[in-house]
Amino acid sequence: MITVPLSRIAILLFTALHALAAHCLSPNYRIDVHSHAIPNIWREALVDAGYPIVNGTLTVEGFPVPEWTIKDHIDTMDKLGVGYATLSITAPGVYFLAEEPTKAKKLAREINEALHNYTLEYPKRLGALCLLPLPSVKDAVAEIEYCLDTLSFDGVALYTNSAGLYLGSESLDAIFEALSARNATVFVHPAEPGCHDATMGYPAPLTEYPFDSVRAMQHMLLTGQRARHPNVTIIFPHGGGAIPYVANRIASVSSVDVLGGLNPLETMQELKGYYFDTASSTSKIQLAALKEFAGVEKILVGTDYPYVPAVGAKLGIEAIPANGEFTEGDMARVNHGNALSIFPRIVAKLEKPRSVRARRNGDKIEVYR
Ligand SMILES: *[C@@H]1O[C@H](CO)[C@@H](O)[C@H](O)[C@H]1NC(C)=O
Ligand SMILES: *[C@@H]1O[C@H](CO)[C@@H](O)[C@H](O)[C@H]1NC(C)=O
Ligand SMILES: *[C@@H]1O[C@H](CO)[C@@H](O)[C@H](O)[C@H]1NC(C)=O
Ligand SMILES: *[C@@H]1O[C@H](CO)[C@@H](O)[C@H](O)[C@H]1NC(C)=O
Repeated sequence: MITVPLSRIAILLFTALHALAAHCLSPNYRIDVHSHAIPNIWREALVDAGYPIVNGTLTVEGFPVPEWTIKDHIDTMDKLGVGYATLSITAPGVYFLAEEPTKAKKLAREINEALHNYTLEYPKRLGALCLLPLPSVKDAVAEIEYCLDTLSFDGVALYTNSAGLYLGSESLDAIFEALSARNATVFVHPAEPGCHDATMGYPAPLTEYPFDSVRAMQHMLLTGQRARHPNVTIIFPHGGGAIPYVANRIASVSSVDVLGGLNPLETMQELKGYYFDTASSTSKIQLAALKEFAGVEKILVGTDYPYVPAVGAKLGIEAIPANGEFTEGDMARVNHGNALSIFPRIVAKLEKPRSVRARRNGDKIEVYR
């Protein structure tokens, strides 16, 4: 007779549960990696900093800040068929306090604790991405440690630039080292360009957000920062901004000697190595570009709620299966499989006892709350 130690059985059971969460969710179970919280403490700080109230609405980077409550967030997830969402703070995070680092550090900590509280209230529905008090690198490293090691956040949020400090800058190496040591997954939200004149006075999200994502990827390429930290998983929202269209140009131009004579194939590999979410990027041409450029295994669902209201978010979510180029298997990857592969802490949360209940429907196992 063969005897199996109890610990071995526990490992097998864990492995089986892991497989359940990772592979047996309904293809329609969605994880939204791009949604935003707007805690009151942040809104008040923006008002205090002098952002204008236009027609009664707080306006930041040329864009209105919508009303938001955690209850509305959950209700909207239910309406959209989103099972789980990661909460982050959109630009300008706390970098509008770049001249007052002590204040920025305190506000980032308070906001992270507010985000943590939301996730404790809805542990099976919400996770959080850590807000960093950049451009103060020392404080930001401390915040990564607090969020990931103490609060067990799902990941970290960065901006393409923080008050002009772009990803790729050498002074951010310490950030990438802290992220790399934890195999962290990072969500890089676009921000108003460091050179404000580029907007020509129009709202930054209009066209400069897509180009700022390109600036950040280009800088990380040309300084070698991305290549030095391959174990940090990075998501660029909005289909990567303009990158699917300009990647070839960057690859060929950066092969000239003055730019370091980079190998074009390696450059393309680096740029295709990011993950991309679908927020406001679900037109026929955008989805075709993403699928061709990055591949189905790099596409994640993003809504940008509440900046994109529920009605628009629903149209975006529905456009992916309606596109006709994604099989049911592809949709399962886009809806949740890819996200689970880069957010192990979400897998762990969904696996917790009683968190996942399953029922059989034909030959499929559907998982529900
Ligand atoms: C402010 O509201 C008024 C009345 O609704 C509208 O006519 C005007 O265009 C608005 N201005 C801005 C800047 O949104
Ligand atoms: C988070 O929740 C704790 C416990 O309920 C509370 O003491 C604290 O004030 C909350 N923090 C924020 C920032 O909401
Ligand atoms: C990071 O991932 C690598 C490769 O999968 C693994 O060897 C390492 O133990 C991981 N480190 C942490 C802190 O999870
Ligand atoms: C990155 O992950 C690889 C395995 O995928 C591992 O061998 C390596 O040590 C990791 N590098 C760092 C810097 O953590």
